[in-house]
Amino acid sequence: MSVQNASQESCRDCSERSWAAAEPLLSVRGVSKFYGARIGCADVSFDLYPGEVMGIVGESGSGKSTLLNCLAGHLAPDAGEVQFDTRAEGLKDTVTMSEPERRMLGRTDWAFVHQNPRDGLRMGVSAGGNVGERLMAVGARHYGAIRESALDWLGRVEIEADRVDDRPSAFSGGMQQRLQIARNLVTGPRLVFMDEPTGGLDVSVQARLLDLMRGLVRQMGLSAIIVTHDLAVVRLLADRLMVMKSGHVVETGLTDQVLDDPQHAYTQLLVSSVLQV
Ligand SMILES: Nc1ncnc2c1ncn2[C@@H]1O[C@H](COP(=O)(O)OP(=O)(O)O)[C@@H](O)[C@H]1O
Ligand SMILES: [Mg+2]
Repeated sequence: MSVQNASQESCRDCSERSWAAAEPLLSVRGVSKFYGARIGCADVSFDLYPGEVMGIVGESGSGKSTLLNCLAGHLAPDAGEVQFDTRAEGLKDTVTMSEPERRMLGRTDWAFVHQNPRDGLRMGVSAGGNVGERLMAVGARHYGAIRESALDWLGRVEIEADRVDDRPSAFSGGMQQRLQIARNLVTGPRLVFMDEPTGGLDVSVQARLLDLMRGLVRQMGLSAIIVTHDLAVVRLLADRLMVMKSGHVVETGLTDQVLDDPQHAYTQLLVSSVLQV
């Protein structure tokens, strides 16, 4: 099946979107990953369009992180294609591209926000250094300009300029997560992967972070894939949803449609909070 045909067939949920006619930024076909006999994720297909935010929800162990890591090049799927619209060569399968090519995408076009800021920050390097390091990885060399960009980004994530030389270990959990977001967005990525970005935070801190993320996604016109077990997160951030159960996608659709009128019994349970997630 060609990518074109597949995207038309799976468009029930994007038919009302203005970007439905555009080329997808990411085109995922039949992605599966097994851990021995255990299913990580199975036969996942979808298209993500420029400027679109996709939420992936499901209870713990449903395969959300496995899928996200396959899409972001951190895990090699056992089957399937992940076509990304590269600036130089158009749609290219990130599963079969060379490791250096994939790593370059990780430094430029992609960003990955981890649930635990420790996995996405260098705890022994100053806040400014954490942001500046990402710029240097894509070739920035001018110290003054790097520091200026770092300060600008600290401001955008609401971290006071006088904290620029502090290490993240001196920051609260919410500040660390905001710093991780600054470090990720400073290079102007086109696709941001997030795994439970508000997971370890207090509820009031979560709300502030969600507000900030929503503002940045809108301002920068970012495409994003957000994995979460928290339906409030996707309600606020995601245009579309995929619901996963036991490694399989059981329902997809516009966020409001899925949450307000869930079709699959599992989604109904998820929405009614019967499931412990
Ligand atoms: N490294 C691993 N080794 C073996 N099994 C794994 C590993 N990572 C995840 N799994 C299994 O794969 C399934 C999906 O896990 P995961 O993708 O982490 O789900 P989620 O992110 O939705 O909680 C679960 O059954 C989990 O136990
Ligand atoms: Mg997970």
